[in-house]
Amino acid sequence: MKNIPFARPMISDEEREVAQEVLNDHILVHGPRINQFEETFAKFAGAKNSIATSSCTAGLHLAYFCIGLGPEDEVIVPAMSHVATAHAVEFVGAKPVFVDSEISTGNIDIERIEELITSKTKALSLVHYLGMPVDMDRINSIAKKHNLFVVEDCALAFGSKYKGIHAGLLGDIGLFSMYPVKHITTLEGGLVLSKHDDILNKISLQRAFGVDRTHAERKIPGQYDVNLLGYNYRMNELQAAIGTIQVGRLDGFLKKRKQNYEVLSERLSGISEIHQFESTNENFESSYYCKSIVLEGSLKSKRIEIIEGLKSMGVGTSIYYPRPIPELTYYREKYGYDNGLFPQAAKIAYQSIALPTGPHLDTSDAAYISDAIVKVINDLK
Ligand SMILES: Cc1ncc(COP(=O)(O)O)c(C=O)c1O
Repeated sequence: MKNIPFARPMISDEEREVAQEVLNDHILVHGPRINQFEETFAKFAGAKNSIATSSCTAGLHLAYFCIGLGPEDEVIVPAMSHVATAHAVEFVGAKPVFVDSEISTGNIDIERIEELITSKTKALSLVHYLGMPVDMDRINSIAKKHNLFVVEDCALAFGSKYKGIHAGLLGDIGLFSMYPVKHITTLEGGLVLSKHDDILNKISLQRAFGVDRTHAERKIPGQYDVNLLGYNYRMNELQAAIGTIQVGRLDGFLKKRKQNYEVLSERLSGISEIHQFESTNENFESSYYCKSIVLEGSLKSKRIEIIEGLKSMGVGTSIYYPRPIPELTYYREKYGYDNGLFPQAAKIAYQSIALPTGPHLDTSDAAYISDAIVKVINDLK
């Protein structure tokens, strides 16, 4: 029997060696490896620069903080995402206004956005769900019409492209995650992309207290001024060194994810009670983060049995995400949302199973997973 976890960080001797080098050095923060990492990722994404942060959540927080959002402001947020997407809005005291998903991709239902825009709406947040890019032309035209700042949650969107442009460079700002199960890892960590230099510069200062010069720029050690309010959301040198190696391996990782994804899509396509999300086409290049399947018909009520059956055959799974955000207790209690207001997001949350596609698998593992699904479903009949 195989043992295929849902995800596994891809740490090789290269990462181990560079980690050792950093630990043998005396520079653990404020060193040159951060710049190298930021430049390496910017080059990968086709951007001028990027900014490294301590996490994607920190980057999301900085995104709203840097445009001065506060109480009285509202942000449009997809109901189907990780809670961080909404929490970052709460951090600055603003109100997330949730929008249901479209079932074809799992992305925000763009048709529903405009009816929720009020004079208080200041930003539009979206998630490239499981790496499938949102239709950014439609988003940007709504944003332009209503003068809204566009935040792309790119936690799962390394390598995702819309009309050839990397996610994060499509709206006003994009935030990436290097949490261990993501496309690349720095243990914990985040990256910020923006097509606006002024935003990147501000984020760069605000991730480190608002201090006006880096260590390298200080003529007298310890001498600096602070002209902005900022947090300590820096990344350290160890993370950056590992990240640079990981970005170098990213093309290879993405290729494997795509191959695994395609095997699963093809082999599961004959099962009528499984809904598959759309992925890559002419304008949309997914990052193939995982293969999430939505159970329908008689399979709908058998999700736990299927997950357990897969587990007994050595196949790890996950759920993206366990509830629509407004059905999480914090949001339900704070804003009084009733269950059932976001039916498509709920369908995804309560009827889907996320299958692994990561580079720890090869296509024979993907074939094994699809065979396991067929067997488990047949055994349940
Ligand atoms: C869509 C999305 N946004 C944000 C995050 C948070 O990322 P981090 O753990 O780097 O803060 C996650 C984490 O899984 C995520 O899936």
